[in-house]
Amino acid sequence: MHVLTVLDHPNPKSFSHAAAHHFMMGAEAAGHTTELADLHAEGFNPLWTMADNESDGHSNVPSDVVREQARIARADAICLIFPLFWWGMPAMTKGWVDRVWSWGWAYDQLGDPEQSMQRNRSGLLLIPAGARSDEVEGKGYRAALDTCWTQGTFGFFGFSPRRMELLYGSKGSEARRKALLEQSYTCGLTLPPPTPA
Ligand SMILES: Cc1cc2nc3c(=O)[nH]c(=O)nc-3n(C[C@H](O)[C@H](O)[C@H](O)COP(=O)(O)O)c2cc1C
Repeated sequence: MHVLTVLDHPNPKSFSHAAAHHFMMGAEAAGHTTELADLHAEGFNPLWTMADNESDGHSNVPSDVVREQARIARADAICLIFPLFWWGMPAMTKGWVDRVWSWGWAYDQLGDPEQSMQRNRSGLLLIPAGARSDEVEGKGYRAALDTCWTQGTFGFFGFSPRRMELLYGSKGSEARRKALLEQSYTCGLTLPPPTPA
């Protein structure tokens, strides 16, 4: 498979970068080719503007969106890696989703999110989070994020299979972070292929 990793963090020394690196190493060990979209390093503009609003998804598509869509077109599997911010996506990832997966290209207000306009791709959300698993799972945050992102966003993306992996306690001890990086590697190594159409 060709695996696209979309990374959102400005600091090359961050845990999120290390997680992306380990995920990609795992994917390569499984025999996949990899490509990294390092959104901060590349200066992606996350602001959804009039230019995005005026495009119908086929004509007048902003050139930076065309470039990201070309990346998606050549990918069989896509992994989004971003730190959990305020129980949501950081602005860069949110803007990439808003602008690139546009109306008329990714979806067109279909009743069934399983019927994306895009072909099936394998999808993974790999999310470093400062909180511990008991806090995230016990208070219902995990279930809420899974509904919104795995079922909602990834459903409209046409991802199948799709899942969310939270890297809990990413601000923790060295041992904890090492275990989380191994978890990231395993996610790359065991990435499933897209469900046949
Ligand atoms: C603005 C901001 C908001 C955050 N919000 C949350 C949050 O809602 N839940 C959580 O578990 N961690 C939260 N964190 C912690 C980050 O998820 C954590 O810093 C990150 O996973 C650590 O990895 P990094 O070294 O790649 O930044 C937040 C951090 C920042 C800077």
